[in-house]
Amino acid sequence: MKVNFTETVLRDANQSLVATRMPFSDFEKILELLDKAGYYSLECWGGATFDSCLRYLSEDPWERLRKIRYKVKNTKLQMLLRGQNLLGYKHYPDDVVRKFVAHAAQNGIDIFRIFDALNDFRNIEVAVDETLKQGAHAQGCICYTTSPIHNLEKYVVLGKQLESLGVHSICIKDMAGIMGPQEAYDLIRALKSNVKIPVFLHTHSTTGFGPITYVKAVEAGCDGIDTAISSFSGGTSQPATESLHYALKQMGYTTDLDEKILKRINDFFKPLKAKYVSSALLDPFVMGTETDALVYQIPGGMLSNLIAQLKAQNAMDKLEDVLIETPKVRKDLGYPPLVTPMSQMVGVQAALNVLSGERYKNITNEVKAYLRGEYGKAPGEVNQELLRKVLGDEKPMTNRFADTLAPEFERVKKELGSLARSDEDVLSYIAFPQIADKFFKERIERESRSVTYTIRMKEEYPR
Ligand code: CO
Repeated sequence: MKVNFTETVLRDANQSLVATRMPFSDFEKILELLDKAGYYSLECWGGATFDSCLRYLSEDPWERLRKIRYKVKNTKLQMLLRGQNLLGYKHYPDDVVRKFVAHAAQNGIDIFRIFDALNDFRNIEVAVDETLKQGAHAQGCICYTTSPIHNLEKYVVLGKQLESLGVHSICIKDMAGIMGPQEAYDLIRALKSNVKIPVFLHTHSTTGFGPITYVKAVEAGCDGIDTAISSFSGGTSQPATESLHYALKQMGYTTDLDEKILKRINDFFKPLKAKYVSSALLDPFVMGTETDALVYQIPGGMLSNLIAQLKAQNAMDKLEDVLIETPKVRKDLGYPPLVTPMSQMVGVQAALNVLSGERYKNITNEVKAYLRGEYGKAPGEVNQELLRKVLGDEKPMTNRFADTLAPEFERVKKELGSLARSDEDVLSYIAFPQIADKFFKERIERESRSVTYTIRMKEEYPR
């Protein structure tokens, strides 16, 4: 049996280890070799890369994608898309979602990995539909979490729902790295015997489960795994590409990976890692194993956010109380998966409940919006008393929040006028208005300063 590998060094490893600050110029020279290594796909766009390009790196994210596509001729390029939220945290109207997917496909994305934090698939339907219309590969995600209401039957139902949406494949997304090997085995087994499309697994090395979880998943029939080239693997990143390749080969599985090329890719990234460590962009701490997430059953990233929040309020002595309160708030909200933005929402409310000395004395706007149904349907039953407290006699919305949003693309395009040079610019602006505006203005300055750079780029990357 063959196992497919998705390389994450350009996106998730970049995001998890160096806060997505790897500029295009740092990895430009390795793209052609990445193309030859035999990966099933290269995850290289979406997630935080888009925001980071505009905000910190003075790069046009669309241009980055086109440049990658220009050098990576054969391997499939993959992006991570947050369904109706695209790359942000709010819901966008359908016309914007369709335009975004269409332009991402036209600029080079082959595989759209699409998820919704609540596994409310009404929030990924439009993105999936547009992906299919563009003739690209739609991969539907199930966000993995554990709770008294999440069990194998429920996950199988979600898998079948995704299959009926017409997606080409399913990805189980364990963003916190909390899935144990036996859980992976049982889950992949259950899905593989109930759906016909390929099943991929995405996890992180955070808790140390990563590599063993992948091995057991493959034993259960998992079609593909996400890994990072070894120098950018481990800790909050993915398990190492090479290690998984060698281990699976020993076990009798085949992969399309070329060991010699993997070695050269790693040799390229090693000094880059050293550079990031010495510039303090990469904190070696995040490359270690952190098992607290298993004890508290909350993701490592959420735990460090909580600690930062309590430190800022001089309330570290309340940490234990907040950690006890967190699962209670999560239960009150119907056990949402603790992925962005739900992890922040639950954590902040739990801290408020403890610090104010009274549960739900203050309720954040995010929790209120969630209870009104603006994020989608809660996975489980919401605490009715809390619901009444927030909504009074008002009923939570049962339709899709995006149905209440008016089309936006053409209006914004007109507003921007010549500041936006393309539809892609309009989409950047809709996604991150202030940051894109600043980027557009700086772009004009930059170009007038460096005419030669502009000419070189046009020669090296013709459209
Ligand atoms: Co991830």
